[in-house]
Amino acid sequence: MAGRIPREFIDNLIARVDIVDIIDARVPLKQAGKNYQARCPFHNEKTPSFSVNREKQFYHCFGCGASGNVISFLMDYERQTFVEAVETLAETLGVDIPRESYSSENRGQESNLLPLYQVQEQAAEFYARQLREHPDAGKARDYLQNRGLNDEIISHFQIGYAPPGWRNLPTTLPADQLLASGLTISKEAGNFYDRFRDRIMFPIRDRRGRVIGFGGRVMGDETPKYLNSPETPTFKKHKEVYGLYELLATRKKPERIIVVEGYMDVIALFQHGIDYVVATLGTATSSDHAELLFRYAPEIVFCFDGDNAGRKAAWKALEASLPALKDGRSMRFLMLPEAEDPDTLARFLDLIHEEGKEGLERRFSFAKNLSDYFFIHLAENLDLGSIEGRSTLHQKASPIIGKLPAGVFRDMMQARLSQLSGHGKVPPPSRNKNHRSAVQSVQRATSERAKPSMLRIILALLIQNPDFFPLIDAEARQELERDEKAGELAAKLFSILKERPEIHCGGIPEHFRGEAEYGLVLKLSVLEIPLSGLDARSEFSATLEKFVAQQKTMLVAQRLEWLEKKAERIGFVGLDEAEREEYRRLTRRK
Ligand code: UTP
Ligand code: MN
Repeated sequence: MAGRIPREFIDNLIARVDIVDIIDARVPLKQAGKNYQARCPFHNEKTPSFSVNREKQFYHCFGCGASGNVISFLMDYERQTFVEAVETLAETLGVDIPRESYSSENRGQESNLLPLYQVQEQAAEFYARQLREHPDAGKARDYLQNRGLNDEIISHFQIGYAPPGWRNLPTTLPADQLLASGLTISKEAGNFYDRFRDRIMFPIRDRRGRVIGFGGRVMGDETPKYLNSPETPTFKKHKEVYGLYELLATRKKPERIIVVEGYMDVIALFQHGIDYVVATLGTATSSDHAELLFRYAPEIVFCFDGDNAGRKAAWKALEASLPALKDGRSMRFLMLPEAEDPDTLARFLDLIHEEGKEGLERRFSFAKNLSDYFFIHLAENLDLGSIEGRSTLHQKASPIIGKLPAGVFRDMMQARLSQLSGHGKVPPPSRNKNHRSAVQSVQRATSERAKPSMLRIILALLIQNPDFFPLIDAEARQELERDEKAGELAAKLFSILKERPEIHCGGIPEHFRGEAEYGLVLKLSVLEIPLSGLDARSEFSATLEKFVAQQKTMLVAQRLEWLEKKAERIGFVGLDEAEREEYRRLTRRK
């Protein structure tokens, strides 16, 4: 892991970029009063209810409720990770990202990544040129043609050719970067040779299009059939998949993503119009793969061979992906019909030939869903008519279901298991519970919209205008922090504002990302406060004053009640002298 990006840098970044420009470059905005509008990119709509506020550096959709700052926008719209979003902003401003602390092992690596990407990009271009120009490339072109690939797809995936011979990579490429990216191998210091020789080359890109590694295939029967780049700082096999960049270049929002086993499968399917396919990089599917893919599509269909090895791989993929299976995401499994021919590509092509592209797509649509696949697989050799069979099923299934994230889907899997095994209570359908809480929260939201509480007004105005912070005196601060519901949030907010008086409204939620209060902070950032004829600053002071007065009266009332109870229980003499004095004082004030 690279060092942490300093908070202050992120705050400054948010303060310096303009959310209007960043969004406008991706979703063209129209000015409407002091806001900018567009049709919401996060849900389907005819009339624009997506609004961007330059002052607050926030966007908000009145239709679907999506809202956030410039970082949330990049994360949600371009599905960038947090760090990628920060990188994007830094690039826009042309500044480098400082890192707080590097572990010694990673020191320097991070800052050296750029040349690694560049050298691999240039190598990809070199290999692609060799495929067109090298005197020995004829057999490579024939090979690709025999496998049915046309020129367009070859260039879309930038397929290339590494010529035979030990040293072909251009000497203009820096030797140390070639070595670091695994493109060359050094047996003794200062002596290099090319890793990939006489192979068809598949550049592997990350989702942002940077070349991170290569796969190289022989044209005959030599082994290994595929040679891949070694793990390098840019190439993490358990984190990346083949074809995602090419997929996203044609489809921004695929409905589903198909995961196949081989590079060639991805490319050939793509050429036949099934352009939402990726492959793992010669490794088993990991939970990182599943997380990555679910960021782009709500459904993943795993495609495996119907043979023993394929079924094992499918089960492994299932187990690894379970933790990523939040409600709203789904997974299916398509086992290819078993055949003599071990070449999955040939079988895909046969299926397309026999059933058409639509036929194969229908197979994807009707592939076994996870729950069926799960129980069928586990119950395969069990006799569910016997106690033994049912208890074994329960023992095997329980821990795996436990890996699912909490949610309706997990509850239902649990219920199905109880039903099948006859063990454990069948939980009541949780839909009711969720339904009720959804209704309640809508009700709550509506009444909130009608009239925000004083506390909400104060916190919202403060988040939206961090420079109001000095208006809060020690007493008000204490009262706010004491609040049962929002006290913690208030306290955290105060400490942020104290430390960073210059912070911009849009930067505040960043300090809460990943915490329970994050959603509330976002809401407060965009909450429109009806100003009762005053400007925001006076409204803030007035509300603050009222709030403090109210809290104090409430405290007085509570204290009085307590004193009265005590007196009642043991007579007025039950109060000591100081308490009696206090009681007189409070009642007089009242
Ligand atoms: P396959 O042997 O099924 O390859 O391995 P494939 O993609 O279908 O190859 P073609 O169709 O014969 O060209 C599936 C995947 O396993 C990895 C590669 O990622 C390959 O795409 N693999 C396979 C290796 O990394 N090394 C190997 O030697 C073989
Ligand atoms: Mn194959």
